[in-house]
Amino acid sequence: MDLQPILDGISAKIRPHLSDGRVADYIPALARVEREQFGMAIVTCEGQTAQTGAAETLFSIQSISKVFTLTMALGKIGNNLWHRVGREPSGSAFNSIMQLETEHGIPRNPLINAGAIVVTDVILSNRSLISENGIGEPGYDAVQEILDFVRLTAHDPSIAIDREVAESEAAHGFRNASLANFMKSFGNLENPVERSLRVYFHQCAIAMNCEQLARAGLFLAADGRDPISGKKVVSAPRARRINAIMLTCGHYDASGDFAFKVGLPGKSGVGGGILCIVPDVAAIAVWSPGLNKNGNSHAGTLALEMLAKETGWSIF
Ligand code: DON
Repeated sequence: MDLQPILDGISAKIRPHLSDGRVADYIPALARVEREQFGMAIVTCEGQTAQTGAAETLFSIQSISKVFTLTMALGKIGNNLWHRVGREPSGSAFNSIMQLETEHGIPRNPLINAGAIVVTDVILSNRSLISENGIGEPGYDAVQEILDFVRLTAHDPSIAIDREVAESEAAHGFRNASLANFMKSFGNLENPVERSLRVYFHQCAIAMNCEQLARAGLFLAADGRDPISGKKVVSAPRARRINAIMLTCGHYDASGDFAFKVGLPGKSGVGGGILCIVPDVAAIAVWSPGLNKNGNSHAGTLALEMLAKETGWSIF
């Protein structure tokens, strides 16, 4: 299938929708991003690539980082993770605290804020150096380890953290601090709240472009193995399960709607990015900063809906 004309067609059709939605404004560094921008990139398991628009413009990946940290935490403690975080859709906003009270500090899933903070706590407690020979090195900084993992999967050592975004996240992170303190009171955080939050704020502040993001997610489309380098990132069943969690929980209280419209596992971030997986076929990254009421990219979702329709890539 020739993907380039499909992407170019979507880029033209999406233009009138770029002024819909609102740019995230909880921190100044995100509030000043120009809304009318759009980029999209696809990389297939066979190594074919296509991109359109601002596919090389960096944006804040925000909650999309939760997919990478989930992958890392599962690699460290395996299914023991599920004693500390569930795998059910929350049906609530990404930063909701309500369920934590009745559910004893166990977040519904690893892709909402509370769940992702538990996941970072697991990474902090089980730090190891990702090296060629797989030898771990205690004391390795957890933020650096997450960044290295993303660089490794994207095959791009230039990927970096936007320090201004990270600091702003920390300065405005009252809601996340509440979630973390609440979970700590139930004994579901091993590390001091400030340490787990520091890691979480930094992972959200990783800056990537669509091209890098699609490449970084490709292992999830190919049974856990990077189909281009041949390197295994996770086992095949684990990759399938991460996709299942993305499908059911990746868009918070709009996950059902995303599955209905697009029919693919996807994870959004308030920076306006969405990583979308077509199992056995490709990884897609789309970016447009205008968000819908659930905090997911408005034009990005629409573009993925168009792509799924034109390619027949829906898993249903
Ligand atoms: O922690 C937060 O609330 C933000 N840094 C990230 C939230 C987010 O990306 C939700 N995604 N749609």
